[in-house]
Amino acid sequence: APLQARNTFGVAASAPLLAEVQDASALPGLLSGPEFAGRSPLVLGGGSNLLFVADPVQPLLALTGRNIRVVDDGDLAIVRADAGVQWHAFVLDTLDRGLCGLENLALIPGTVGAAPIQNIGAYGVEVREFVHAVEAFEPATSRWLRLDADACAFGYRDSLFKQDPDRFVVTAVEFALPRQRAPRLDYAGLGDEIAASGITAPTSRQVADAVIAIRRRKLPDPAVLGNAGSFFKNPIVPAGQALALADAHPRLPVFGGGDDATRKLSAAWLIDACGWKGHRDGDAGVAASHALVLVNHGAASGRQLFDLARRIAGSVHERFDIALEPEPRVVGARW
Ligand code: EPU
Repeated sequence: APLQARNTFGVAASAPLLAEVQDASALPGLLSGPEFAGRSPLVLGGGSNLLFVADPVQPLLALTGRNIRVVDDGDLAIVRADAGVQWHAFVLDTLDRGLCGLENLALIPGTVGAAPIQNIGAYGVEVREFVHAVEAFEPATSRWLRLDADACAFGYRDSLFKQDPDRFVVTAVEFALPRQRAPRLDYAGLGDEIAASGITAPTSRQVADAVIAIRRRKLPDPAVLGNAGSFFKNPIVPAGQALALADAHPRLPVFGGGDDATRKLSAAWLIDACGWKGHRDGDAGVAASHALVLVNHGAASGRQLFDLARRIAGSVHERFDIALEPEPRVVGARW
């Protein structure tokens, strides 16, 4: 099956098999049947966090179920969405229902099923805060599981599912969403964006609109210029190393690392400082609007994008002694 139209980098690749499943209850039969023959599937969501460096050897599975249902309407609403629902459509749907929490995560590409896998986050919010439970099928044991947020072992762009990428097929996610919540505007730029439009007490829909405006400005639209969002994770380093770097480079953005001993640095700043923004090797390039985003100007191969990423990481390592790691799942090569 051709995959060029199914990954937002738009690189050419081909899968031995691509099965689309609308009703997740068909999974046990399908995965133990002749097509899959016990091979664990590579689950394809929106293809927005994936780089095919070579053709996948695993069969691919895409879940197309798109139901959204409020399963509990208490103080917190529990909303269950199938893995195949588009993430941004889901965010808008919850806002339309008068629920809040997901507004800072507006316009993130991909599907609901992919959201918990790398614990998507933006503008000071991570999805982990709103995950009530994740439903998953485990092909190796033919078991259905329902994992609460603690069991998902969420971290920065990380989870149990990402640690062990072939173990589970996420089939649905339940979110616990409040009806009211103080807006979270602390992340650089978001508060300013809202203040600039003259709004003093923004609704969650208005926060979402501001996030949408910032993202449209900074991040290239994959429909126009192939990309997978941030290509590198922001590195988490020992606090001492962050302090020394910030001393030497006062403009380097430093964020909390999740505990006292660590800090998170801006990978975009480090890459920018090495002069990569707007760089181009043939059709593989770095976005002119954001140093963290690799782009395909047309006919770049996954290998060319991967090689460019390695060179970028190499130069950041040489200059700052920091090891960058890719954020998207890289298929067909080892980082
Ligand atoms: N910066 C530069 N040069 C650039 C771009 C940014 O120096 O070309 C510096 C600026 O100082 C800026 C800082 O880097 O203030 C941070 O940039 P930005 O606010 O754009 O955030 P980011 O750290 O690059 C992270 C997430 C994004 C998320 C934004 C907003 C990761 C890997 N990326 O990016 O997530 O949208 O914060 O919250 O954590 C994604 O995961 O695909 C993604 C886009």
